[in-house]
Amino acid sequence: MNKLSDCFILSNGVEIPCIGFGTWQTPNGEIAFNAIKAALEIGYIHIDTAAIYGNEKSIGDAVKDNDIVSRKELFITSKLWNSNQGYENTLTAFDKTIKDLQLKYLDLYLIHWPIPKDFRENWQKNISSTWKAFEKLYKEGKIRAIGVSNFLPHHLSALMKNAEIEPMVNQIELHPGQTQNETVLFCQKHNILIEAWSPLGTGKILSNPILKKISLKYNKNVAQLCIRWSLQNSFIPLPKSVTPSRISENANVFDFEISRDDMDTINTMSYCGGSGLNPDNIDF
Ligand code: A2P
Repeated sequence: MNKLSDCFILSNGVEIPCIGFGTWQTPNGEIAFNAIKAALEIGYIHIDTAAIYGNEKSIGDAVKDNDIVSRKELFITSKLWNSNQGYENTLTAFDKTIKDLQLKYLDLYLIHWPIPKDFRENWQKNISSTWKAFEKLYKEGKIRAIGVSNFLPHHLSALMKNAEIEPMVNQIELHPGQTQNETVLFCQKHNILIEAWSPLGTGKILSNPILKKISLKYNKNVAQLCIRWSLQNSFIPLPKSVTPSRISENANVFDFEISRDDMDTINTMSYCGGSGLNPDNIDF
């Protein structure tokens, strides 16, 4: 990977740009609008959002307002919120997302969490009916790729048991200190591309002394080291920022290579911060 527009290839042949612009915790309105405009100017062409982030409208406005990239060049992801799981609800929620984003199609749509609080009893059945709606939207050409988020191997196995089309992506929390090896290996075995949410550990790992020391060797900061680490592990990082200087530096990760030894050190670091969410136990 040498630039923001370089791509990984999904199992269905769709190309996905190697760094996505994260928007979790980016408020709707001027902040989201300006962040997306800044990202597009810097050269990001991959945007990651979700219905629950509440910012789809402003992201849609910024995409519509831009004359830098065409819709075809962009890769836009959204996610189905927990309370909308189930066949009919999914179809309705997808229509709202597309309307808010002001798009004709989505590049990638993900089931946001495997076991919403209100579906703990019958989550396997629920996942299957939700996935049926995803398959329908995919077959109709309304989504170019379909996948999941926060799925551990047992959630993926349950989904795949009744699936006609296998998920192409799993977006999980991944950063130094939280490497989710079992899930990564499972996904690699099944040709499911991994996306890394909170590749900077929501900002909490940026002062870690081990990462700091390694980053200085490459004349980079810790955020850049974490993003590069994701890429070298073949994960798509989705760094979030609303600060133009950071949006720019987070894209400046193509002029250095982390050595094998340093990759090993980072790969085996112990937990040093993040969201702390467990997909089997979420309270929402
Ligand atoms: P902000 O959006 O105010 O610029 P993650 O992507 O892991 O969830 O991390 C997002 C957090 O990290 C946000 O608080 C964001 O702040 C901050 N952040 C993003 N990029 C950088 C950077 N290059 N340097 C320092 N903090 C950053």
